[in-house]
Amino acid sequence: MIDEANGGSALPERGVPAERVLDEVRGLRAGDRPTHGGRLFAYVYDPAVPGLDELAAAAHAASAHVNGLDPTAFPSLLAMENALVGAAGRLLGGGPGGTAPDVVGSVTSGGTESLILAVKAARDAHPEIAAPRIVVPSSGHAAFAKAAHYLRVALDVVPVSAETLRPDPAEMAAAIRPETVLVACSAPSYAHGVVDPVGEIAAAAAGVEVRCHVDACFGGWTLPYLRRLGTPVPAFDFAVPGVTSISVDLHKYAYAPKGVSVLLHRDPALRAPQYFAYADWPGYTMVNPTIASTRSGGPIAAAYATLRHLGDDGYLRLASLTRDAVAGLATAVRAVDGLRLMAEPESTVVCFTSTDPDLDLFVLVDELAGRGWHTQPQLSYADLPASVHLTVTASVAPRVAEFGPDLAAAVTAARAAGPVELPAELRALAGTLTADTLTPDLVAGLAAGLGLDGGVPGRMAVVNTLLDAAPPALRERLLVEFVGLLQRPSW
Ligand SMILES: Cc1ncc(COP(=O)(O)O)c(C=O)c1O
Repeated sequence: MIDEANGGSALPERGVPAERVLDEVRGLRAGDRPTHGGRLFAYVYDPAVPGLDELAAAAHAASAHVNGLDPTAFPSLLAMENALVGAAGRLLGGGPGGTAPDVVGSVTSGGTESLILAVKAARDAHPEIAAPRIVVPSSGHAAFAKAAHYLRVALDVVPVSAETLRPDPAEMAAAIRPETVLVACSAPSYAHGVVDPVGEIAAAAAGVEVRCHVDACFGGWTLPYLRRLGTPVPAFDFAVPGVTSISVDLHKYAYAPKGVSVLLHRDPALRAPQYFAYADWPGYTMVNPTIASTRSGGPIAAAYATLRHLGDDGYLRLASLTRDAVAGLATAVRAVDGLRLMAEPESTVVCFTSTDPDLDLFVLVDELAGRGWHTQPQLSYADLPASVHLTVTASVAPRVAEFGPDLAAAVTAARAAGPVELPAELRALAGTLTADTLTPDLVAGLAAGLGLDGGVPGRMAVVNTLLDAAPPALRERLLVEFVGLLQRPSW
């Protein structure tokens, strides 16, 4: 019998029959948040299109063992990659007839890899700059910080306004220095779903001949469709002069299974420094457009099948369902006294905060989870309050009417429960912590106090309250320690 808590031994003494193995996987999956059903507002993008999962799974299986390492050996993969890049490029203002006819790109494993490669290409285009820097709004995705960290590039963060949740283009321009190799902005930002002033930022970057990357990983696939449906969407793609690269994730709003993003460059010369080639060893000559060398064809084939099956008309229909769901959820939030939308929704995010000290958002998130709605808490940051984030997908549309009453009931329950009070011993312990003085003993004490020593607790409000009280450097250390506690081998 499989030990469900630990996942069972992955290498049993004797092989297990296929059907039983699948039962075990299904058994483990039963403990996950529901990926379908329109009640999960993060991590998963579900169009609720019958048969699409099966189609994508079949295409994935057909190409799972194909290796993207060598496009000459597997022309099927090259053809599908080129088709995906072409589709993304055309949707975002490139290709024949577009304002950027020479757009080229690569398929990567996800948004983070696309951003790391955009930063790498910008960095390696300037080998003469010894200490390269990038300029990013504070609302830019954390993957820019990861790219800066991995690539040893300095990060210049420009704060966003607490009212507009966007950076001031003049401040972005002022942050550009002689060592700046890239200026970044989001269309839209993940946290709040707002589109940055791309035109002004790109113009400032172009004025000093610096690259400008638009991170459209999250919403780049929906914004063009929302615009076609009549939503006012500012110019954010290759139609904007000065935009040199754009990333868009197919495993988000193109509804492909995980593992596919596209990084586009305005022309081949901009892409060239993204590649890594190596011939100075006795093995096969290597040329990689992406970080991974061996790459499974599975995700690419699955994305190709998804795009071809849904088609332009399918995406327009899904965007329309999503737009209506966003409007319905926002109306439900507005109807609750004590909640405030962080921004009027302009893409596919609904994000709200609490204006009532007696209404603790982290308790509310737990109350919603108890009612089957999985939302994403966002900690307070600089002058932005803590908030609740909802990534809205087409699958939410049929559920919207159920959300309002459940939100109202969850708010009533959260008010009745009152704000989280950290237990006295935890408060005392937390008061002594800094990122530099955290020891394994202190972490173990904290984890026990938070109930994290036995796995992930059902209610997270206390954990979130503790993290929220800590400055970012301590949050980071605590997160690493806590997740390290979870990631232990099962023998
Ligand atoms: C705007 C934005 N950029 C980048 C990423 C990173 O994408 P991934 O999680 O696929 O690496 C995300 C993920 O949510 C995102 O929303």
